[in-house]
Amino acid sequence: MMTEPHILVTQEGPLLSIRINRPDKKNALTNEMYDGLTEALLRACENDQIIAVKLEGVGDCFTAGNDLIDFLSMEGLSPTASAPRFLKALASFPKILMAVVQGAAVGIGTTLLLHCDFVIAANNTRFQLPFINLALVPEAASSLLLPARIGYLRAAELLLFGEPFSAETALQLGIVNRIVEQADLEACSGDILNKLFKKDPAALFETKRLLKLQLIDVEERMKEEFKAFGTRLAAPAFKTMAEAFFQSKK
Ligand code: COA
Repeated sequence: MMTEPHILVTQEGPLLSIRINRPDKKNALTNEMYDGLTEALLRACENDQIIAVKLEGVGDCFTAGNDLIDFLSMEGLSPTASAPRFLKALASFPKILMAVVQGAAVGIGTTLLLHCDFVIAANNTRFQLPFINLALVPEAASSLLLPARIGYLRAAELLLFGEPFSAETALQLGIVNRIVEQADLEACSGDILNKLFKKDPAALFETKRLLKLQLIDVEERMKEEFKAFGTRLAAPAFKTMAEAFFQSKK
């Protein structure tokens, strides 16, 4: 029997939909899945028909973040590894990027949202930046983007405690645009996209470029974070904490 790909990509006119499809593992992202996401973003860049990308998870959650088994097998993090390549493509993506989230949005499932132009969340979404609990450090330039977005003290609390927070909190902090019932996610994202598709695409992309100009050192910050992240991944504290997660599932 053919197994379904873990990244599903479909085009409908100006919209490229990317769905993370590994619901039995809460859509945890493996290196192969990052490669699929990168390819889809590059495809959207090259195709003149496409104006927006919508990213979502299959099943009851967005993503539980990086696959911890993949992390356990890694000795460090090179800038050309799958996750860094994806984050670079995401940060420099020139078209409209929308995330539609529900259930768990953990780790990179929260930090990638900081690169999106629209974030729609179901009211059951649980966000979390759990890096500290794994003896790791922030990634995706979140150490730069989060304090810039929500203020230093709030960002420090989220990153130093690593505790989950609700969709209401995310809305108050300015991490999401809208909260809706799970059943209304499709309609809400559709309304927003339809409004955008009526605008001039070149003006949309140029407006996005201008909005992001103050964040010019995102790539530099990612490099700095990957260096620190790689060191932390190789440290015994991470292995102990990641193994404790899997032990707790037994
Ligand atoms: N990497 C690998 N496997 C993961 C995973 C991850 N990040 N997150 C969840 N899974 C797996 C679980 O091991 C479990 O597998 P099993 O059914 O073979 O035992 C399955 O996905 C379901 O997860 P479970 O924890 O039972 O679901 P839940 O609804 O109780 O909790 C989460 C969901 C997301 C809150 C919880 O899974 C979690 O905290 N995951 C780890 C998140 C994390 O630390 N990510 C890395 C950030 S750097």
